[in-house]
Amino acid sequence: MNTTHFISETASPVIFKTSWQAPSNIALVKYWGKHELQLPKNPSLSFTLSSCITETNVEFLPHKKDYFDFEFYFDGELKPEFKPKLKIFFDRIYQYIPWISNYKMEISSKNSFPHSSGIASSASSMAALSLCLMDLERELFPSVSINFFNQKASFLSRLGSGSAARSIKGPITIWGESKSLNLSSDLYAISFEDDINPIFKNYQDTILIVDKGSKLVSSSQGHNLMHGHPFAVNRFNQASKHLLELTSVLKTGDLESFMNIVELEALSLHSMMMTSDPYFILMQPNTLAIIQKIWEFRKNTNIPLCFTLDAGANVHLLYPKINKFEIHKFIKGELLMFCQDENYIQDEVGEGAKKCKFEL
Ligand code: PMV
Repeated sequence: MNTTHFISETASPVIFKTSWQAPSNIALVKYWGKHELQLPKNPSLSFTLSSCITETNVEFLPHKKDYFDFEFYFDGELKPEFKPKLKIFFDRIYQYIPWISNYKMEISSKNSFPHSSGIASSASSMAALSLCLMDLERELFPSVSINFFNQKASFLSRLGSGSAARSIKGPITIWGESKSLNLSSDLYAISFEDDINPIFKNYQDTILIVDKGSKLVSSSQGHNLMHGHPFAVNRFNQASKHLLELTSVLKTGDLESFMNIVELEALSLHSMMMTSDPYFILMQPNTLAIIQKIWEFRKNTNIPLCFTLDAGANVHLLYPKINKFEIHKFIKGELLMFCQDENYIQDEVGEGAKKCKFEL
């Protein structure tokens, strides 16, 4: 399949409003390094989250101009400072949704997680917006199938933020071509539904907020530093190998192997950052203190608690729901002291995006 598959026709405008909620996701096999327009250098796999969501309302108002226009509100306030980034997104996707030129859009968004928590909202926000756009496309072209709807929503989201491609469906999604997965694609994410072991269906993710601030090096800068990185090819091969191994572990429920792959992926991602030129470190002393504590706890209790990291200092603790009680005791007693203002977010694996009631 190539990108022409996603080019829609034009259509006469209609008045339309819609609202979608899309979740954040946490990668277990990491995407780090891209080429062309947001195409990944290796396949990645993530847990879709449940509570960390963006809710976006879009009111499509037909207008007589020959190019689209929009206003963006966040938490009820007009935010012109977000417009340039969104304009880049709309310019990129315009060729796939040419009908958009007939509209002025009033977009309004809010996140379930605090704005200043250090949790990136680009995945959930790009996914929620793309779903609103697809909802109108389905209204204009009723023959759009549910499969195409989800695929194109993921395809559009990817053009906003790579990892957003994985925020449409749940509970586990894979983005990027992998030899052993027939339907996998670099253009959009697919849902991994192959007999997932029940233990993973409500796996817990406690996000320890080590640093609420914005990152010194953005993901886009980090991805770019993989061009010419001396370890890049090995890293991309390693990720592809981990993806194959993990898809098997997700069926068998072998938690030892799960923890090993997930932690190795997190540390490999950060190793790439530390060996880029220019090099950088996004972990903080408290990130390492938490990791040491997790390893100590696991050794002493045999409870299957492991961690992953995204592109930042915060630590995602991953564990089965049956161990929630003991692990929360451990978090409260021994880990919260390493968090900024003792902040954390409790989440778990979720089912994917949902349409909701339009409310202003
Ligand atoms: O989607 P981006 O460009 O913000 O990159 C995401 C990169 C990681 O979060 C570090 C890994 C991933 O696969 O989500």
